[in-house]
Amino acid sequence: MTGTSGFTAARPMRVAVLASGGGTNLQALLDSSLQESPYRVVLVASDKPQAYALERARKRGVPARVISDPSDAQALVRLLQEYRVDLVVLAGYLKLVPAEVVHAFTGRIINIHPALLPAFGGAGMYGRRVHQAVLASGATVTGATVHIVDEEYDRGPIVAQWPVAVRPGDTPETLAARVLEAEHKLLPQVVRKAAEAGRVVRLFPAVAFGAPSVAAVPPEGG
Ligand code: GRF
Repeated sequence: MTGTSGFTAARPMRVAVLASGGGTNLQALLDSSLQESPYRVVLVASDKPQAYALERARKRGVPARVISDPSDAQALVRLLQEYRVDLVVLAGYLKLVPAEVVHAFTGRIINIHPALLPAFGGAGMYGRRVHQAVLASGATVTGATVHIVDEEYDRGPIVAQWPVAVRPGDTPETLAARVLEAEHKLLPQVVRKAAEAGRVVRLFPAVAFGAPSVAAVPPEGG
């Protein structure tokens, strides 16, 4: 290991994805890793045995595991260690990651959120509710955020953001669909850059259009 928030020297970087739902972000990571890739998805785990994310993993021959007790920190750490995971990606994972797991993987757990944090985040802010709140606020811009995970929901240092315009007549569904498209572009870029740099790096500018430029500096607290 190169440091608390660095990865092992092993290449490609070994990624675990935790997901509770459909797993379209997982799919974006799987698809991106088919091209010449500095990372590989080596494990997909879900608190929901029926999550379609697990099926997506199986279709690609990636080990798919059920997390029977998401609050059991030791079991989760053991699982991640079993697969020699370098980076953990929360992609629609609705459970809080126990503090012990966060400490065991300091700076090596990232989450994707469907809004421009710190706005429209926190406990209970997920799925349709996020987009409903954005529309109710009258905001003209929303987007996707990738951040490092700490002990609180949606609070860790921001790694990258991708803006999405709110259009007149948008519904939570139309907005969610456009934000999801942005997520699918953003997340693989963040993971690729992390794999290349050997640690999670901020993409600059924080609000990035197209291919963001990268500065290999550690995020705050990372
Ligand atoms: C995404 O909008 C993500 O930002 C949020 O949960 C949703 C997961 O979607 N955390 P999917 O399961 O990747 O399709």
